[in-house]
Amino acid sequence: MAIVTLHEVAKRYGDNPPVITGIDLEIRDREFMVLVGPSGCGKSTLLRMIAGLEEITLGTIEIGGRVVNDVPPKDRDIAMVFQSYALYPHMSVRENLDFGLKLRGTPRAEIDRLVSEAAKVLGLEELLERRPKELSGGQRQRVALGRAIVRKPAVFLFDEPLSNLDAKLRVQMRAEIKKLQHRLQVTSVYVTHDQVEAMTMGHRIAVLNAGKLQQVGTPLEVYEKPENLFVANFIGTPPMNFIRATVSDGTLAARGFTLPAPAAARAALASRQGKPVVVGIRPENVVEPGRRTTGATAQLQLTVDLVETLGDEVVIHGSKGEDQIAFKMDPHNPPEFGGKVDAIVEVDRIHLFDAETEKRIAE
Ligand SMILES: Nc1ncnc2c1ncn2[C@@H]1O[C@H](COP(=O)(O)OP(=O)(O)O)[C@@H](O)[C@H]1O
Ligand SMILES: [Mg+2]
Repeated sequence: MAIVTLHEVAKRYGDNPPVITGIDLEIRDREFMVLVGPSGCGKSTLLRMIAGLEEITLGTIEIGGRVVNDVPPKDRDIAMVFQSYALYPHMSVRENLDFGLKLRGTPRAEIDRLVSEAAKVLGLEELLERRPKELSGGQRQRVALGRAIVRKPAVFLFDEPLSNLDAKLRVQMRAEIKKLQHRLQVTSVYVTHDQVEAMTMGHRIAVLNAGKLQQVGTPLEVYEKPENLFVANFIGTPPMNFIRATVSDGTLAARGFTLPAPAAARAALASRQGKPVVVGIRPENVVEPGRRTTGATAQLQLTVDLVETLGDEVVIHGSKGEDQIAFKMDPHNPPEFGGKVDAIVEVDRIHLFDAETEKRIAE
């Protein structure tokens, strides 16, 4: 059990510009924290600094109340699971699971107990005598997980452990890892570029972009109140629609149409008369006429540019002049390409961002 605290953590490689800057983050005891962001934003670097595999250029990292900046990885009481599995190919599953414990001088009887417990939890009992090459990708990843859990570490670190698996197996393993963490109650930091993985797995998620922390919160907090345009765009599928507009007497004047401002934002907009804002509308908050809506609404007529069938619904990519709005409809009567479709916008669910700072306008 452990709290992990990052204080003003930064990283630079040689004389290059820093790849991580000013990260302040506390991962609570027994929390499942997901670090999410696009490829190259610094997720692995940050995780490797927590693990001790990468030097910390500036700031401090504490694990369980102890500053670990100068503590070697083996003494940090952590276990890491990688995308590549990193299993020893010439060893059996059992030997792979034993290995770390043997190195630590754990007594044989204790090793056997820990390994059989992990094998049972992960469904590896029948596979213990096989070599990694005789296993499927999902089974290999399970062995990698097993190797982490037999060590009973204070903290689990996961670096995109599911990225090599096919989509279906990924969803299954996602659930298994979540259950495992719930059962073992070990503080965990999980890195992924996949926002759906982040939303479904994390107690809280930390969104990272270009080496900077953008927002930390529960999946719902981040979804409902993205603090800036980057987060608003990154979280949610299909992504939020963005429309440039000008504040005009309590309304939002876009290029080809005008929307009423959300009631909660009127006070904040009073001082922004004539100023440019970015209007964010989630596809979920645009519906076809006749559907149930919440709060004030506005109707727009859109031109249909594209219809994507998902099975249970279709995604309509519509436009109004130069602005695009995507939303979902019942799949049975989709509108025609190039035709017109009426869409109802739930105005009180609109998100507003300052066009210059890209920050959320407080409500
Ligand atoms: N050993 C290294 N030397 C120099 N630059 C590196 C090194 N490792 C990573 N980087 C750079 O740091 C940035 C963050 O990389 P990384 O943490 O791997 O991103 P992510 O895991 O989010 O995809 C990238 O721009 C990458 O090129
Ligand atoms: Mg990475």
